[in-house]
Amino acid sequence: MNILVTGAAGQLGKTIANAVQDSSNRYFFCDVQELDITDAQAVEEYVKQNGINVIVNCASYTAVDKAEDEAEIADAVNHKAVAAMAKVAKDNDAVLIHISTDYVFDGTACVAYTEDSQMNPLSVYGRTKADSECAVAESGCRYIILRTSWLYGTEGSNFVKRIIEKSAENPVLKVISDQIGTPTYAEDLAGLIVSIIEDDMLDRTGIYNYSNEGVCSWYDFAHEICAQSGHLCDVLPCHTDEYPRKAVRPHFSVLDKTKVKKTFGIEIPHWKDSLTVCMNELKGKIY
Ligand SMILES: NC(=O)c1ccc[n+]([C@@H]2O[C@H](COP(=O)([O-])OP(=O)(O)OC[C@H]3O[C@@H](n4cnc5c(N)ncnc54)[C@H](OP(=O)(O)O)[C@@H]3O)[C@@H](O)[C@H]2O)c1
Repeated sequence: MNILVTGAAGQLGKTIANAVQDSSNRYFFCDVQELDITDAQAVEEYVKQNGINVIVNCASYTAVDKAEDEAEIADAVNHKAVAAMAKVAKDNDAVLIHISTDYVFDGTACVAYTEDSQMNPLSVYGRTKADSECAVAESGCRYIILRTSWLYGTEGSNFVKRIIEKSAENPVLKVISDQIGTPTYAEDLAGLIVSIIEDDMLDRTGIYNYSNEGVCSWYDFAHEICAQSGHLCDVLPCHTDEYPRKAVRPHFSVLDKTKVKKTFGIEIPHWKDSLTVCMNELKGKIY
């Protein structure tokens, strides 16, 4: 099979590249320089010329606050390009694996969101991702949408790396305690994506939630990162209001993973266990 991975220089794209080094399938990794997904014609030509069977769309406009001022660009990358990509997938009988976000929800729930929960994004970024989900579902292509949250890993820049760095430099850190969700270790998500492709599960189409198991606040997450790094930094809880940002985030975005676990026969590690794996990988490199 021929597999195109877009947004390949991002944290998930790079993590997938690391995970498929021994595959007998042919992977084509492209970031914006090689293939700008907003250029629908270029995407179509690339898919045709390389006989692409699967597109894994890791490309995204992910600057959540900046998107409030750049709604048109965010929509072009996160929504319009994805709608066009879904059409290319349909026309060329390819499967589209697309990544979405917990920010499609408004966070007013008090039980975990299922795949059928009502979307009601609070931010431009969330709206563009919600629109992408609808466009993919309406396109008629074969698709798997994986909706994930709080992504971090060994590649790219992310919350874990920032807290490791900040806790080495500061005796005290204040971190938001009134946003509740679940971190996702990019290596775990990449593992699922690769397994879907390599283990012949591409026919299990639909939308799925995927994060690690468990529930925490950003404060809990930061506290655990510090504890595992051994940094002597006091992590203190604070409210969202103390850190006003352009984009509104959901206060609660825990994802129910029953469907993904059943459909793909997987067990998902608890976020603390996956954090330990990541911290061991980063040890000696950034702390
Ligand atoms: N990070 C999170 O916490 C999080 C949470 C939930 C869901 N997700 C979703 O997970 C997916 C992967 O996220 P990530 O953290 O790996 O994102 P990332 O690190 O920001 O990677 C996205 C990549 O897409 C590239 N890109 C941007 N515009 C493009 C274009 N027009 N054509 C081709 N490539 C383009 C980016 O390049 P530049 O850097 O040059 O712009 C970047 O290399 C995204 O769909 C995201 O929405 C992420």
